Amino acid sequence: MAVERTLSIIKPDATNRNLTGKINAKFEDAGLRIVAQKRIQLTKAQAGEFYAVHKERPFYDELCEFMASAPVVVQVLEGEGAIAKNRDVMGATNPADAAAGTIRAEFAESVGENSVHGSDAPETAAVEIAYFFSGLELVG
Ligand code: CMP
Repeated sequence: MAVERTLSIIKPDATNRNLTGKINAKFEDAGLRIVAQKRIQLTKAQAGEFYAVHKERPFYDELCEFMASAPVVVQVLEGEGAIAKNRDVMGATNPADAAAGTIRAEFAESVGENSVHGSDAPETAAVEIAYFFSGLELVG
């Protein structure tokens, strides 16, 4: 399997509860390497641009408000099959459907406040990584 990179975000509900380290341990235990990471405060406009694909969804405004409500930790995870592996570690979008032991099963509060985001495909991973990181910040 190819080595991939994927964009991960630890969301405000998790940073508010001081869960960055516990969530990072889940990634590392699964063999994902955190090759870039920074804690930032998004504006609502920046969150809206990142989630533009969801613009027509009824939850879009609520999602953007939430993502700008407190700091997030944006990170690049690297590993074999990292995109799918990260989605396995995160669990289903709705924590009620997330498998035991996944980040969302253990930490998420609701479908909206679900602790983490992860890219869903190689094309989106490339776009999402470039939204937050320059090439100089990716040192492997
Ligand atoms: P994420 O993986 O970041 O991608 C889009 C986000 O939209 C998703 O996680 C959820 O946080 C959010 N989302 C999806 N469905 C709903 C919903 N029904 N209500 C509120 N937020 C949602």
